[in-house]
Amino acid sequence: MGFSGGPEQEKPMSAFLELGIFIPIILFRVNENSVFRPLCHILFVRPGKTGMSENLQQPIIRMFHVSRQYGAQKVLTDITLDIEPNTFLLITGPSGAGKSTLLRLLYLAEPVSQGQIIIDGVNTARVSRRRKPVFRRIFGVVFQNYRLILTKTVFDNVALPLEVMGERPDMIRKRVHAILRAIGLENRLHAYPITLSGGEQQRIAVARAIVRNPKLVLADEPTGNLDSDSADIILNLFEGIHQNGATVIIATHDRTLIDKMGNRLIQLEKGALVGDFKKDTCFPESVNYDSESFAGLKSEVP
Ligand SMILES: Nc1ncnc2c1ncn2[C@@H]1O[C@H](COP(=O)(O)OP(=O)(O)O)[C@@H](O)[C@H]1O
Ligand SMILES: [Mg+2]
Repeated sequence: MGFSGGPEQEKPMSAFLELGIFIPIILFRVNENSVFRPLCHILFVRPGKTGMSENLQQPIIRMFHVSRQYGAQKVLTDITLDIEPNTFLLITGPSGAGKSTLLRLLYLAEPVSQGQIIIDGVNTARVSRRRKPVFRRIFGVVFQNYRLILTKTVFDNVALPLEVMGERPDMIRKRVHAILRAIGLENRLHAYPITLSGGEQQRIAVARAIVRNPKLVLADEPTGNLDSDSADIILNLFEGIHQNGATVIIATHDRTLIDKMGNRLIQLEKGALVGDFKKDTCFPESVNYDSESFAGLKSEVP
């Protein structure tokens, strides 16, 4: 079961080796159109990832007729959705559509009003309050406002998820150094978040979310208001962890991110699921759609 510690706890060396592969890839992936594209097929295609066995797997997330309301206000209405393992899902829609609420429901930050959510085979309604922190270890989460711990250094912020998992200090040091090097902030190890720019803080927040190689990554508007350098670095981190097998779910209305990333896109409007599109690419390329109808992509929603 995914929430009892995850594979990274059982096999720390293999997790480290995976990071060892994935960090250089992030560094090399400077140019979207470089010779690296064919390489991703060679390096990251893993058994079960592209073959039939993947199709036989259960969805990692299943939502059945999920609604959420605050008092009389319906914020999410009757959402039914299956998300396959290793999907890179973008959730789009206008402000107030319910994107953040949907992520909060998945993270068990708040309960559903109606319906059911099954995550990694677990009916989330049955996760007791006491077990929620352990259950949440399946996730790496990037919150909208970073939520870095201001009294801890950059190193300690990124190291925290590994410390919680009880990883060895030498392993923690190596992994944190590797990921900070990948996001160009190794020289800010001892800095406090308050001394960093917004883009740098957001890079740290993403590094903290993925340092454990979580099975599921949730991010709420991770590139909002970022300079393009920081946005590119962050997108490469998400792409790296996705190529490494994780399921990535990002709420965004950032046009650049939508153009470049993801293999599935859902649209919310006033709390309802109004569009569901698939992209079939290894590294995302711009797809031919207009902003209203995503023409050229077939919606799964009738
Ligand atoms: N805790 C809350 N109490 C009452 N209304 C809320 C709460 N959280 C969100 N909402 C409302 O739910 C709707 C959807 O919000 P949200 O999920 O943040 O949308 P999005 O992320 O798509 O902009 C909005 O109308 C918002 O005002
Ligand atoms: Mg939001």
